[in-house]
Amino acid sequence: MQPVALVTGANRGIGFEIALALAGQGYFVIATARQPAEARPAYVGHSVEVWELDLRYAGSVARLAERLRRAPGRLDVLVNNAGVMLDSGRRGALSLDPDVLRNTLDVNLIGALRITQACAPLLREAPAGRIVNLSSSLASLAGMGSGTPAYRISKTALNALTRILAAEFADTPVKVNAMCPGWCRTEIGGPHAPRSAHEGADTAVWLSTLPADGPSGGFFRDRAPLEW
Ligand SMILES: NC(=O)c1ccc[n+]([C@@H]2O[C@H](COP(=O)([O-])OP(=O)(O)OC[C@H]3O[C@@H](n4cnc5c(N)ncnc54)[C@H](OP(=O)(O)O)[C@@H]3O)[C@@H](O)[C@H]2O)c1
Repeated sequence: MQPVALVTGANRGIGFEIALALAGQGYFVIATARQPAEARPAYVGHSVEVWELDLRYAGSVARLAERLRRAPGRLDVLVNNAGVMLDSGRRGALSLDPDVLRNTLDVNLIGALRITQACAPLLREAPAGRIVNLSSSLASLAGMGSGTPAYRISKTALNALTRILAAEFADTPVKVNAMCPGWCRTEIGGPHAPRSAHEGADTAVWLSTLPADGPSGGFFRDRAPLEW
C-alpha cells in the first residue's frame, strides 16, 4: 500500500515544496490549506490531494482526522509546516501585545499539538511513522536574542514539544524531529532571503523519510544537528 504523508500549510511556500517532493518519492500526499479550491490547480498531475484545515479550530482538525481515518485510513508522515510570524519587525518582548503572542502560539504550537494528537493513532500503526516540526534557528536558546519575540517563543515551545513527543513515542517506530529550513523566500521569509522554498524543504523531506536507525528528538538544519 502506498505510504501517506500529511503536510500542513502546503498551499504555498516551503510546505508546497515538501508536498511535491514527497509525492515525487512515491507518497500519497494530503496537502492542507485553509482555502483548498485556490490551492488545487498547482498540484494538478501530482499524487497530491488538497484538504481543508485551519489549525486554529479544533473542529477543523477533528474533521480532517475523521476523513483521514475513513480513507486512506493510514498515515506514515506528518509534517507540521503551517506557521505564522505575526510580530515581524517588532523588536522587544517588553512591547509585545499579549494577543499577538496568544495568536502566534495558537497556530505554531497549539495547532501543531492539535493535529499531532489527532494523527497519533494512525502514526502509531504505521510501519515507520515520522513527525517533522518546522521550527527555526530563531528558536535556539543558545543563540536567543531580541526581535520577533512571539515567533521565537512559539518555535522554542515547538522544540520542547518535539522532545516531549519523541520521548512519548520512544517505544514505537515513530520518530519526531524539529528542523530549521534556513532563511527562505516565502511570505514569512520575504523576498530578500538567500534560499528558495525548494532548498528550505530539503531537510524536512530527509527527516520525513528517515530509515529505522535515524535520529529522533533532534533539531536539524541542512541535515546536520543544530544547537537547542
Ligand atoms: N521562510 C523562512 O525563512 C522560514 C525560516 C524558518 C522557519 N520557517 C518556518 O517554515 C514554515 C513554513 O513557512 P513559509 O516560510 O513557507 O511561510 P508561508 O509561505 O507564509 O507559509 C505558511 C503556511 O502556513 C499556513 N497557515 C497559516 N496559518 C494557518 C492556520 N491557522 N491553519 C493552517 N495553516 C495555516 C499558510 O496558509 P494561508 O496561505 O492560508 O495563510 C501557509 O500555507 C513555518 O512554520 C515557518 O515558521 C520559515
